[in-house]
Amino acid sequence: MKILAIETSCDETAAAVVEDGRRALADVVATQIEIHRRWGGVVPELASRNHVVQVMPVVDEALSRAGVGPDGIDAIAVTSGPGLVGALLVGVQAAKALALAWQKPLVRVNHLEGHLVAAFLSETPPAFPYLGLVVSGGHTSLYAAERFGAYRLLGQTRDDAAGEAFDKGAKLLGLPYPGGIAIDRLAREGDAHAIRFPKAIVKGSELDFSFSGLKTSLLHHVKKHGVPEGRGLADLCASYQEAIVRALVEKAFRAARRLQFDRLVLAGGVAANSRLRAAVSEKAAEYEGMEVFLPAPRLCTDNAAMIAVAGTHAFLRGERAGSDLNADPAWRL
Ligand code: KG4
Ligand code: ZN
Repeated sequence: MKILAIETSCDETAAAVVEDGRRALADVVATQIEIHRRWGGVVPELASRNHVVQVMPVVDEALSRAGVGPDGIDAIAVTSGPGLVGALLVGVQAAKALALAWQKPLVRVNHLEGHLVAAFLSETPPAFPYLGLVVSGGHTSLYAAERFGAYRLLGQTRDDAAGEAFDKGAKLLGLPYPGGIAIDRLAREGDAHAIRFPKAIVKGSELDFSFSGLKTSLLHHVKKHGVPEGRGLADLCASYQEAIVRALVEKAFRAARRLQFDRLVLAGGVAANSRLRAAVSEKAAEYEGMEVFLPAPRLCTDNAAMIAVAGTHAFLRGERAGSDLNADPAWRL
């Protein structure tokens, strides 16, 4: 079975062809990072306009790289939420038009489900049930993944997402968008213990996250000491990154222990962070029988292959979207 998927929820225009929900025959991502960089973050209107320009060339490229024509496709999957409404609409309209023109079934996919199942494209995919930590620019959520299509939200951020903490922190330090990549790189040369950032206390659910206090601490630090250069900047990046990573690792393993999960799957753009990947592996070594799944960075950041995986299983369950499918910018998984 071959599924063509389209993803346009934020600032990547992506299309992929995936076979049997496991093998990406083509995985094309046209990123708009350069377009948004000069504004220091994603400008929704610019994102939509560029998706309009890119979506069909990206779909054509995916089909051509996969070596299949419309006849070889069993269904079309599309991200219909959550995300930027104008950006989502471009993918949804393109997918609806193609489904109509080619007479193919259409399925809608939740972007977060895509992230949660991206690991199935790895050589060693996880087995259900597993604990999934989605850490991206818009989300920081812990899910119990029971089977395809069945996810239970265990905890989430009360304010900023982990990726936002990276991006806003980087902006304060004068680093380019997307901040996570810039901080990750600089932090490699720095001392993560140089500056102590306070640990966030989240009242209520023990599995919820909070990152806005950390961002404020960084702001105070910068107001007091200015933005350092060289080694000082590397130390500050490493310490700030460590505080984000510590919070993520602590909550994920607390949930794993409490709910007796022995598989942890990371997903979302922040899961590409080298320190987070190392810290999760280190921590797993302390937990006997704990397996961690860290999809390749390319599978962590936004792509359409992960949407095709989720779409394949939705299709197999018999889910279908009609020509009235609309973008659902706040769709909760
Ligand atoms: O999943 P994603 O590509 O898009 C969303 O759905 O949001 O995640 C983008 C986020 C951005 O906040 C970016 O700064 C962050 O992922 N990111 C990273 C790294 N690479 C991307 N954060 C930390 N370290 C990285 N290496
Ligand atoms: Zn994403």
